[in-house]
Amino acid sequence: MRCAAGHSFDIARQGYVSLLTGKGSAHRSDTADMVAARSRVFEAGLYAPIVAAVAERCAHSRVIVDAGGGPGQYLEAGLTAAGDHAVGIGVDLSKFCARSAARRHPAALSVVADLWAGLPLRDGVADTVLSVFAPRNASETARVLGSGGRWVVVTPGTGHLAEIVRPMQMLSVGQDKTRRLAEEFGDRFGEVVEQRVQSQVRLSESALTDIAAMGPAAFHRTPEQLAAAAAELASGGPVTATLDVTVTVARRR
Ligand SMILES: C[S@@+](CC[C@H](N)C(=O)[O-])C[C@H]1O[C@@H](n2cnc3c(N)ncnc32)[C@H](O)[C@@H]1O
Repeated sequence: MRCAAGHSFDIARQGYVSLLTGKGSAHRSDTADMVAARSRVFEAGLYAPIVAAVAERCAHSRVIVDAGGGPGQYLEAGLTAAGDHAVGIGVDLSKFCARSAARRHPAALSVVADLWAGLPLRDGVADTVLSVFAPRNASETARVLGSGGRWVVVTPGTGHLAEIVRPMQMLSVGQDKTRRLAEEFGDRFGEVVEQRVQSQVRLSESALTDIAAMGPAAFHRTPEQLAAAAAELASGGPVTATLDVTVTVARRR
């Protein structure tokens, strides 16, 4: 691919395009092991209620951008809900995520790019932007959304996986998420609607390891440490944990 300024970018054999320039990014992105763990969690249906809530918000969309989309399960579900005429663009800093996202749906494009360097899209082209457990660049989201477009943000609540956060040495959720989100919306977004999604999941030892290993705990703990924590926690059998997230939808003014 070649841009208007004459820079060229290779389309990888696996179907994604990396738009990172030579110096790359200072930010940490998901590794191959994290992507594999995340994919097993989705394949086991453990996050199904969250996937369903996000997909519902994508109905009638024509251009869906999954910003910090990871391996692309939410984009896949959103495109399926949106129907035949929709296209999706997964944007992630991780090439391992981009490889996975490129394969998920025939209408999905997959791009490696740094959200903080800007979304590689023209102004106003998207009607839905997803930010699911991902970094959020509010001004870029506002720029690429057309008027009336939806920003669908998923944030964990304080109860999210509360039973396992400490024993699995995962990072706990900050308390000021709601205030931060309101600041990000500012006056560019309105009609804010929140839906809380809560449900219980039964987690086996391997599912416990995967849930910890797909997130930031993987940057701070070795696989052996996470496996040992899971073995101890599930020594009496599968553990019940709570999913508790808020799906917030805001409209671009
Ligand atoms: C917790 S994961 C969530 C992935 C996906 N949305 C999901 O919920 O399955 C956060 C994602 O953000 C990506 N990410 C982190 N910093 C980024 C950046 N600066 N630009 C683009 N993606 C980034 C990571 O590589 C990772 O895939």
